[in-house]
Amino acid sequence: MKDIYILGIESSCDETSFSIVKNGIEEISTVISSQIAIHKQYGGVVPEIASRAHIKNITFVIEECLDKAGITLNEITAIAVAYGPGLIGSLLVGVECAKTLAFLYHKPLIPVHHIAGHIYANNLVKRLEFPLIALVISGGHTELIYMDKDYSFRKLGSTLDDAVGECYDKVGRVIGVEYPGGPVIDKLAQIGKPNYKLPLPLNDDSYNFSFSGLKSAVINLAHNEYQKGRELNKEDLAKSFQDVVIETLTKKTMHAIKDYKVKNLILAGGVAANTGIRNAFQELCEKENISYTFPSIKYATDNAAMIASCGYYAYLDGRIADLTLNPESSLELK
Ligand code: KG4
Ligand code: ZN
Repeated sequence: MKDIYILGIESSCDETSFSIVKNGIEEISTVISSQIAIHKQYGGVVPEIASRAHIKNITFVIEECLDKAGITLNEITAIAVAYGPGLIGSLLVGVECAKTLAFLYHKPLIPVHHIAGHIYANNLVKRLEFPLIALVISGGHTELIYMDKDYSFRKLGSTLDDAVGECYDKVGRVIGVEYPGGPVIDKLAQIGKPNYKLPLPLNDDSYNFSFSGLKSAVINLAHNEYQKGRELNKEDLAKSFQDVVIETLTKKTMHAIKDYKVKNLILAGGVAANTGIRNAFQELCEKENISYTFPSIKYATDNAAMIASCGYYAYLDGRIADLTLNPESSLELK
């Protein structure tokens, strides 16, 4: 079979990224331009600033990606773009770019779901094996997904309120660390002790999650400590918070693995970069004889390599869009 080269485009939040992946598994070149430095001063992503930065960056990023690959746009088989969910202005920049390139170079246009992309970040580590359970943990999503074949997704449960990454970032703000709080809490938790008592959220038999109660508990605890004139121990709070997150994520995920008699687990999304979460799942999977894959740290957070890998399977599945494709900020995974 002829080699298939997919150009992936990702711009759903605050990363502008292009990547070329061969046959769904072989990464040829990836460029990620992150806007974290811009948004840091506001304590989170400012949508209008994000879309303007995408417009400014996008032509440089695509040029660098093609240069690094030594491939021209004519040699690309198809163009895959993350068209939702995400920030509408940010998505629009990537989608318009993809449509323009597809039109000019007469290439098929492949619409990719951003979360499906996060799942396929694992495919660049090891070819996915089915059936599998994917735990998606990102800044905007917390979901348990069942897959029995490529590009086929069944949502088993999700968060009823905040996403886990959002909760990490909020806790980061409470303890006074820069945005995004997730990676800093990860480091603090490695040296902290679980000395603060926090509630285990939605401790039931469903596959759903809830993080707003945990977030409020951390905020209240911090206020109480300040009112009593006591200094907050950041490391201990980070560790106490993360332990509760790990307990709820592992409990619900291992429950789904048993119920669906699945032997493969993958983690996906920015929070899948977390050391404590990875270690906990590794230990449990080894004990229970479950095969597991985690995304590489650099491709746990947003990138276009995952969109290009995922786009390959969407392409094989015949999922081709026409030039009326529009971004969808609340796109469902199906
Ligand atoms: O997947 P992603 O790049 O964007 C979305 O699609 O939402 O995830 C970003 C999220 C942020 O909330 C960030 O704090 C979190 O991933 N994150 C982490 C770590 N690295 C990134 N959370 C916990 N531990 C980490 N090491
Ligand atoms: Zn993402």
